[in-house]
Amino acid sequence: MSQDDSVGTGAGGGEDGLRRSAAFLIDEALGFLFPAALRAAADVGVADHLANGPAAPADLAAATGTDARNLHRVLRLLATRGVVTEDEQGRFALTGAGQALRGDVPFSVRTAVQMLTDRTMWRPAGELTHCLTEGTTAFENIFGMPFFDHFAKDERTAAVFHVGMAAMSDQENAPIAAAYDFPEDGTVVDIGGGHGGLLLEVLLRNPGLRGVLYDRSHVLAGNRLAAHPGITGRWTPQEGDFFAAVPAGDIHLLKRITHDWDDEDCVTLLGHCRRALHPGGRVLVVDAVVPPGDTPHQSKALDLMMMGSLTGRERTEADFAELFARAGLRLSRVVPTPTVLSVVEAVAE
Ligand SMILES: C[S@@+](CC[C@H](N)C(=O)[O-])C[C@H]1O[C@@H](n2cnc3c(N)ncnc32)[C@H](O)[C@@H]1O
Repeated sequence: MSQDDSVGTGAGGGEDGLRRSAAFLIDEALGFLFPAALRAAADVGVADHLANGPAAPADLAAATGTDARNLHRVLRLLATRGVVTEDEQGRFALTGAGQALRGDVPFSVRTAVQMLTDRTMWRPAGELTHCLTEGTTAFENIFGMPFFDHFAKDERTAAVFHVGMAAMSDQENAPIAAAYDFPEDGTVVDIGGGHGGLLLEVLLRNPGLRGVLYDRSHVLAGNRLAAHPGITGRWTPQEGDFFAAVPAGDIHLLKRITHDWDDEDCVTLLGHCRRALHPGGRVLVVDAVVPPGDTPHQSKALDLMMMGSLTGRERTEADFAELFARAGLRLSRVVPTPTVLSVVEAVAE
């Protein structure tokens, strides 16, 4: 990557400046090969085979059933970004960052990397031009059905998204549950709660609360709460379509939900929440709040995934305020968390 700060800002000028700009953009255009390499490493389980220490590519290839020369090439790129590191004997070792690619560690992101680089994200990302010219998602054009219908097709396909999603959420659930001051009693409904990682953390931290995990039945089947003795008898799974209705409760949690959907769909969903909230209840949208201007933020990349693969978008605080108002709610505050997500709280108008 180009190291010159002036590159990319148009500063510098003249022929040299233009040459540097050209080199910068060539590097940027090649950037997609890093996640490609990360995915390949995740697929063949490289990190698990490095758990016990450094290994030569030939040994690693034998252990993973891969081609040694090609594996070396993948590792060499990953080493440029600190996922692995190469020693003087040409052996590769996991770095601290690379540890999370193992499948057997807490907060493993192996399945999350596979989900985020799955062809259902990758192919639409290559068709963003379609989104620009047509003003629609690219997903249905490629896969012939909406995103969540695709991931309900069969168990194996469903696992790619829902297991990966749960893994992506793992590292953020506890800090989010800790960042918000939940009431001492009442019912928390985790709407589109997936495998229930956030609800589990909320219930563990707040022993007076009860929970409802609300999602599609094939998703609820993979829930983590049933196996957790600490919350037995304090939660129920409930199957349903959140565009038809949502269960009644005191807190409606919507984590990484509104960003999947366009404004009309969000207003429908939030309207159901408004009607199903107990008096004094709150809706907590847990999503990124896009910062203004040039500030780098993960949401600005994820937003393009929402554009290509779904119909949603990442939103600013003003966007959320407008959505809530259309659904009869009022944005009451934004609670930051140590993660990339914030808790955007709304109450009945
Ligand atoms: C992006 S995932 C978020 C999962 C979870 N909240 C998290 O943050 O890990 C979206 C969730 O919404 C669920 N979902 C999508 N459409 C739904 C619908 N119409 N009714 C109920 N749940 C739905 C999906 O099954 C999935 O679990």
